[in-house]
Amino acid sequence: MFWPTEEESVWATEHIIPHATIAANKLFEKYGPKFDKTDLDQSVFDGWSMTDKVKNHFNELGLSFRRFSLFVGAAGAKSAVPHVDAHTIGAPMVARLNIPLRGIEGAKLSWWDSSVDDPRMLERHFEQWDATQGKMRKAFSYLADPHADWGPASFVVNNPGPCWNHVELAHKLELDFTTETRINITAEIQDQIAWEELVTRLRNCNYI
Ligand SMILES: [Fe+2]
Repeated sequence: MFWPTEEESVWATEHIIPHATIAANKLFEKYGPKFDKTDLDQSVFDGWSMTDKVKNHFNELGLSFRRFSLFVGAAGAKSAVPHVDAHTIGAPMVARLNIPLRGIEGAKLSWWDSSVDDPRMLERHFEQWDATQGKMRKAFSYLADPHADWGPASFVVNNPGPCWNHVELAHKLELDFTTETRINITAEIQDQIAWEELVTRLRNCNYI
């Protein structure tokens, strides 16, 4: 349902990819060829039919829509570390709806049955590109201790396409075998609900 149509793909190439490319360059300049999040002015998404689809999906599921955000990752980046998504200290995000536009082939997403209370997970204070302000700004999430051993993942998806990502679990995106910059549009929930509740609502609406 959230694979962009040909038309949506063309629209994204014209209206979103140029902003994503600037954001990617800013981040790679600062941190090297990695994977990270950035903010885009929400007006970038006005006029994209996918925007309405996503907002309708949120309404149908009784979710409040926070904003679209953007993840960019360097092709072939060998820098993946387990992390937990968060905006504020002590409050992991539960889930986000991902709509990858580029860099799907060769990507690998893994999850572990573990979250921010895992001693291997550390606070991450960093800077992310804020296109709305035209500068880097402070950001927060959780990132694994680089020396920690995580063992085999509990669940793995190769070439991950559009999906609800359970981001309160430790998860890792590997881009080692991608051949283009990964560009992933993501829709965030304003008022978090439990993953189990989200799954129930998706089931009640016959998505799963
Ligand atoms: Fe994440």
